[in-house]
Amino acid sequence: MAGLELELAGIKMKNPVMVASGTFGYGEEASKFVELDKLGAIVTKTITLEPREGNPPPRIVETASGMLNSIGLQNKGIKDFIENRLPFLAKYKTPVIANIAGDSAKEYAELAKMLNKESAVKGIEINISCPNVVKGGMFFCFDPKATAELVRLVRKQTSLPIIVKLSPNITDIAAIAKEAEAAGADAISLINTLLGMAIDTKTRNSRLGSPTGGLSGPAIKPVAVRMVWQAAQAVKIPIIGCGGIMTGKDALEFFLAGASAIQVGTANFVDTQAPIRITEEIKNYLAENKIGCYKELIGKALLT
Ligand code: FUM
Repeated sequence: MAGLELELAGIKMKNPVMVASGTFGYGEEASKFVELDKLGAIVTKTITLEPREGNPPPRIVETASGMLNSIGLQNKGIKDFIENRLPFLAKYKTPVIANIAGDSAKEYAELAKMLNKESAVKGIEINISCPNVVKGGMFFCFDPKATAELVRLVRKQTSLPIIVKLSPNITDIAAIAKEAEAAGADAISLINTLLGMAIDTKTRNSRLGSPTGGLSGPAIKPVAVRMVWQAAQAVKIPIIGCGGIMTGKDALEFFLAGASAIQVGTANFVDTQAPIRITEEIKNYLAENKIGCYKELIGKALLT
């Protein structure tokens, strides 16, 4: 697609609009509604070494300002992914980025080693930002040193591009981004969900099956744009922006803040065509403004 192609961390994409982990499963159900070959990349739902049951229901509730989820990384494990999910995705030209999580750095490294052998996987997104698990997940990204150690261990096990997915639930995004870059990350993606809570005033209990969950949707977009901008001042590796993107105009904000590509997440639950529509809207903006390539916009916010 003219003006939209890119190569990000060595992964060739026809456009910069990916689908975010956890909002698109492993593509098979979504393929009934969305033309997978029109997507920039598919980031899978998080995969762990062993199957996980996830958190108690309800796992998703709607709030006045966005969606709150506490899924708890439910998935059937890496073996099931490789044997039963990946062959379906391998039929498409769209690059597959496998999102992984573990309880320990060793588990992330083991997952990376297994995925390294899979030619259908074009990149690995390390999830160190899930707010809904007790071990691993977000606890790595609270500590820049732990993030660096984890990335180094994973780097040793794979030649695939490594994308580190960062959390907004920290104070210094630049510090974590820099450590990830120095440890060998090829790109970073941000933001994952903001830790939130919703209480039922009748029962006085959490509206979720867990006390807290992750907030996503348009409410978190200004936080995400700010953090992408801060990270862009700190690192040279590409940044993938994510958080509340519903329209092409939202995506353009992320490019201007410094993102080289974006991920569409919660919008997939509202409009199955969201990633395709957003791609069209970006294309139309480029044509209307006589801009040859969207890359001309990256980091070009005119801030006074
Ligand atoms: O609860 C969950 O599975 C969420 C995962 C994530 O935000 O990365």
